[in-house]
Order: sequence, then structure tokens, then C-alpha cells
Amino acid sequence: MSGALLTNFAGVPFKNPVIAASGTFGFGRQFEKIYDLSKIGGLCTKGLTLEPRPGNTGERLWETPAGLLNSIGLENPGVDAFIENEWPHLADIDTVTIPNVGGSDLDSYVQAVSKFNDLPVKLIELNISCPNVKCGGMAFGMDPDQAYAVTKAVVDESAHPVMAKLTPNAPDLTGVARACEEAGAAGLSLINTIQGMAVDVDRRRIVFDNVYAGLSGPAVKPIALRMVHQVVHAVSIPVMALGGISDWRDALEFIMIGAQCVQVGTMNFVDTTVLPDIVDGLETYCTKHGIQNLDDVRGIL
Ligand SMILES: Cc1cc2nc3c(=O)[nH]c(=O)nc-3n(C[C@H](O)[C@H](O)[C@H](O)COP(=O)(O)O)c2cc1C
Repeated sequence: MSGALLTNFAGVPFKNPVIAASGTFGFGRQFEKIYDLSKIGGLCTKGLTLEPRPGNTGERLWETPAGLLNSIGLENPGVDAFIENEWPHLADIDTVTIPNVGGSDLDSYVQAVSKFNDLPVKLIELNISCPNVKCGGMAFGMDPDQAYAVTKAVVDESAHPVMAKLTPNAPDLTGVARACEEAGAAGLSLINTIQGMAVDVDRRRIVFDNVYAGLSGPAVKPIALRMVHQVVHAVSIPVMALGGISDWRDALEFIMIGAQCVQVGTMNFVDTTVLPDIVDGLETYCTKHGIQNLDDVRGIL
């Protein structure tokens, strides 16, 4: 490793900017059987809430051409169980573990985030963008005032820097981004999934019990690029970009438009070594082009 990939995000050092996206990597246990997790820059945990959640009923995943629809509904064991059963293991791995925290109202967000205050967490990802839950979730990320309120409440209570994860479904995405920055977010991540739906013609019914679900994967990349470009120009805090990244070239596209780090989600299901392969691809690119650090190409477009 040459050091070309070393990245600072809101004061947090990352050995490289390649990070597993929330909900597509569990707590890393399946993937560590395949490769050494210390190879990647970091991992965002499955979305955690104050109380355990069973998730949605009915169909939860549906493939589309070049994309995936999901309606998991934030199934998770709850913050306490995570801290007891998963955190000690993750803390032993030489990578940055980023708890992704969700909630159903302001108080449940604040309480969930404050449970991490006594742990050596480096960064929290605040999920104000989940489209698949009936209350809370995306509702907080749809409107600048609500986004400000929840981010401010959490930032005030958190001992750690907070990165707000934005929804592409917001009518005024840059307004939400600016509101999070004003509220004290140390960084932003985007995009979460784009609302879509599917119809099962054999069963003659709408696929998902919740009717709408979240679209991710290669199909969303051009939209994610446009949105990251807009947000990078609207704020001065760093951005972790995601949405449809499948290889190191895709990752570099986001970095060249100004992303500090990238996250990879759906492609982990398609190609289980996509994350370390992107790390290698970026390293080779830097060596081939004599790039000392990705900063040389970051934000050049
Ligand atoms: C099955 C599945 C579960 C997800 N769960 C979460 C979650 O718990 N919290 C969250 O912030 N995002 C969640 N996401 C969104 C992803 O982290 C990511 O924002 C989105 O899939 C876009 O990236 P991608 O195209 O690389 O998958 C989930 C996505 C999928 C496909």
C-alpha cells in the first residue's frame, strides 16, 4: 500500500475511502469469511434502532434490470443487543465501524445515538432516509426543517461526529443538505434508495405489502452522481457518495466530482469481493498515473 488512498473524513482518518453501505453488509460476519475486513476503509452497520425491529412482512427483495428493490423495514436487533453482541468483535477489526442509527421520533433517535457515547466510535451515520418504515425514517429527511431538528438534537447529544444520510426522494435535496450542515453534521452521505414499485403479474398483485420500495444498484448511479454533484457544491462539509457503484471506475467518478469517500451497497450481493477489488483498483490507478494521493484528482470536475 502506497498511502495514496489515505483519506481524512471530517477529522476521522480512513486507510482508504472504500466503505460498505448500511444494510448490505450486516455486521460484517458473512463477509469476513471471504476476506479480511481490515482491507476496506470502513463499514456502516445495518440500521440500528432503540428497540429491536422485526422488519416488514411479505416480499422484501425484488430484482429489476440493473437494480434491486427492497422493503426490509429496518429489521435489526436493537442498539443494546448490537453493543453487547457485535460491537466487541467489530472493535477488534482494523477498520472504521460506523453505526447507522434510525428512529421513529426525535427522542428515539437521540436515545439510540447516545448509547454510543461511552464507546470509541469514530463516526455515526444518522439515517434520516429509510423509505421502508411507516413512521420516522425518510420523513425526517424529506424537509429541511425536520432534518435540521433531528440532526441538531442528535449532534447536541452525541459524543461523536455525526454524518447525516440523505434521501434522494426529498423535493429540496440541497435544502436538506444545508440544513444538516447548519445543525452541526460533520458530513453527509447520499444517496439512500429511490422509491419505486413492482407488480407481480402472475399473482396479479403489487409485490410489496408497503406498495412502494427502495431502488438501488447500477440503475441509480447516474441519478446519484447528479445528486452528489449538487450537494457537494451546496455544502462545505465532506460527502460520502453512494448509489450504484460496482467497480473502481464508478468509485473514481464520484471522487472526481468531489466525494471524500464512497460506499458500496447492492453490489456486495452480486460480487462478494467488490469492496477489496475497488481498493485494489484505485491503488493500481494511482500507481499507473503517478498519483501521490487521491486528493490530486478529488473534486477536479
Ligand atoms: C437490502 C438493503 C437494506 C438496506 N438497509 C439500509 C439501512 O438499514 N440503513 C440505511 O441507511 N440504508 C440502507 N440501505 C440503503 C443502502 O445503504 C444504500 O444507500 C443504497 O442501497 C444505495 O447504494 P447501492 O446502489 O450501492 O446499493 C439498504 C439497501 C438495501 C439494498
